Amino acid sequence: MTKKRVGVLISGRGSNLGALIDACRSPDYPAKIVLVISNVPSAQGLLRAEAGLVPTRTINHKDFLSREAFDEALDATLNEAGVELLCNAGFMRLHTESFVQRWWNRHLNIHPSLLPAFKGMHTHERVLEEGVKITGCTVHFVRPEMDSGPIVAQAAVPVLPNDTRDDLAARVLEAEHQLYPHALELVASGEVRVEGERVVGLTQVREQKPLISPPRNEVF
Ligand code: GRF
Repeated sequence: MTKKRVGVLISGRGSNLGALIDACRSPDYPAKIVLVISNVPSAQGLLRAEAGLVPTRTINHKDFLSREAFDEALDATLNEAGVELLCNAGFMRLHTESFVQRWWNRHLNIHPSLLPAFKGMHTHERVLEEGVKITGCTVHFVRPEMDSGPIVAQAAVPVLPNDTRDDLAARVLEAEHQLYPHALELVASGEVRVEGERVVGLTQVREQKPLISPPRNEVF
């Protein structure tokens, strides 16, 4: 099987990167990570990558005079490594439009909400403030507008009555770690593709029970 060559962009902890590295260990998985780039030299995710024997580079945005120049360096480094598919995993920089164009339909991001709801930062705080009962996470193709683009896959997670921001973040993160490897597999294997700004391709998907939150058997 020829595996798709994947690059991962990170800025911090790198737990999603860890989940992707683990998934790539399986011989049947259709992707392999050939490069991890961090824009933050101290990012913990770099250590995870090194522990997983994945090549890393640091490209510090502070070393560049403009966003364009930084994105140029990213693009050149990714191309040198022969990256075919790019995954943002907690990468905290906005890309220039020209970078997004170059990686069009080859570039994924994970966001900790059920998009298009709760785009942007501080999603869990806003979810709690709104009293939403179900939240989750989304893997989508990257477009110039932040946290938008064709949706590959989503996971739904209940919001529990006494959740703190950290409780909710931890529950969503656990779902992220399952969702990102799954979504990357769908894209890397060619099982799904973008058509008219929607992700299509799967024909036979079994029905699942709805996630009801709070559950119906709950005593009030
Ligand atoms: C995740 O919650 C992801 O959805 C968001 O940034 C966070 C990154 O966490 N884009 P990690 O670095 O993968 O642990």
